[in-house]
Amino acid sequence: MARARELGLRVLGTTSPNPAVGAVVLDASGAVVGEGATSPPGGPHAEVHALAQAGERARGGTAVVTLEPCAHTGRTGPCADALIAAGVARVVVAVPEPTQLAGGGAARLRAAGVDVELGAEQVAAAEGALAGWLTGVQEHRPYVVWKVATTLDGRVAAADGTSRWITGPDARAEVHRLRAGCDAVVVGSGTALADDPQLTVRDAAGADVPRQPLRVVLDRRGRVPATARVHDGAAPTFISAAATPAALLAELFDRDVRRVLLEGGPTLAAAFLAAGLVDEAVVHLAPQLLGAGAAMVGDLGIPTMAAALHLRVVDVTLLGGDVQLRLRPARHTEGRAHDRQDAGGS
Ligand SMILES: NC(=O)c1ccc[n+]([C@@H]2O[C@H](COP(=O)([O-])OP(=O)(O)OC[C@H]3O[C@@H](n4cnc5c(N)ncnc54)[C@H](OP(=O)(O)O)[C@@H]3O)[C@@H](O)[C@H]2O)c1
Repeated sequence: MARARELGLRVLGTTSPNPAVGAVVLDASGAVVGEGATSPPGGPHAEVHALAQAGERARGGTAVVTLEPCAHTGRTGPCADALIAAGVARVVVAVPEPTQLAGGGAARLRAAGVDVELGAEQVAAAEGALAGWLTGVQEHRPYVVWKVATTLDGRVAAADGTSRWITGPDARAEVHRLRAGCDAVVVGSGTALADDPQLTVRDAAGADVPRQPLRVVLDRRGRVPATARVHDGAAPTFISAAATPAALLAELFDRDVRRVLLEGGPTLAAAFLAAGLVDEAVVHLAPQLLGAGAAMVGDLGIPTMAAALHLRVVDVTLLGGDVQLRLRPARHTEGRAHDRQDAGGS
C-alpha cells in the first residue's frame, strides 16, 4: 500500500477533477507484477494500467489500490469488472469510494468471489494524494496547502520590502515540486504588486515545464497591471475579484481545481486561516533574523494565548540549510479523521 500511495503522489496535479489513485498488482506468490496510477481525465484508471502490465500473472493474485475500484462506466469502463476479468483473487483498498455514482465496486467484486479488504492504511492515503479529491467530494471545495518562506523570527519580507531570496536553492526547488502537485497557485494582489512573481513550475534548469497549474491572483480592486508577469502567457492565469476565500475556492472548484497552493502573502493567508480554509501548511524556515519586516501571517483576530490557532507538526525535513515543516491545523485534523472514518460507510 505504501508503494500504491507513492504511485498516486507521482501523478498529483495531472488527474483533476479525478482522484490521483495508485495501484499495485501482485501475482499468486506475492511478487509485484504490475504498477499503475491514474491517467489525465479520459485516460485509463490506475488499476487498468497495473493489470495491463501484469497480464496473465494477475490471475490468482492481489490488487492493492488506494481508492475502492469504481463500479460505473464513465469515460472509462468499471475497474471492478477489469479486476474480475483479470482473475484477481484479492483486492486490498485504502479508502472506500465515498460517491454514490462510482460506489459499489467492493460489493461487485465480492459478488464475483473476490476477497476484498477495505480501509487498509486509510488515513495515510486520505491525507496523501487523495486529499484534494476527497475534500472536493465532502466539502465541494479544493484542498488548500498554504506555503510560506520565513526567517526564524517569522518575517516574510525585510523592512524595505525585499523578500528574495529568504530560503536557499533546495527549498526553492521544493516549491516548484509543490506547485507541480497542485491545480492552481494563488496569491493576493499585494504579493503580485510587491514581487511580480511568475508563479510557473520550472525544472532544475529554470525552464517552464509543459503542464502548468492555473495562476490565480485575488485582486478585488483591479490593481494588478496588464504588464505583470502573471500575464506573460507562460501558463493559464485567472484574476479573481471574489469577496472571500470561500468564494474564490468555489470559483476554482467550478474550474475543476481540487488542490490549491496558497503562496501568500500574509494578508491573504490570514484570511484563509481565519476562515478555517487551510488544510495543510508547508513552512520553509530560513536560519536568518531580520528583527523587522512583514510578519508571516496578518491579524487573525486572536486576542489571547488561549485562543491561539494550533497546528500539529506532521513532518520536519532539512532542505539544504533551511528547515521544512509540514503542519495541519489541529482541530481541523481531528474533525477530518472522524469524517473520513464515516465516509463510504464500509
Ligand atoms: N516569504 C514568503 O513566502 C512570501 C510569500 C508571499 C508574499 N510575501 C511578501 O508579502 C508581502 C505582501 O503582503 P500582502 O499581505 O500585501 O500580500 P497578499 O496577502 O498577497 O495581498 C493582500 C491583498 O490581497 C487582496 N485580497 C483579496 N481578497 C482578500 C481577502 N479575502 N482578504 C484579504 N485580502 C484579500 C487585498 O487586496 P484587494 O482588496 O485589492 O483585493 C489585499 O490587500 C510582500 O512583501 C511579499 O514579498 C512573502
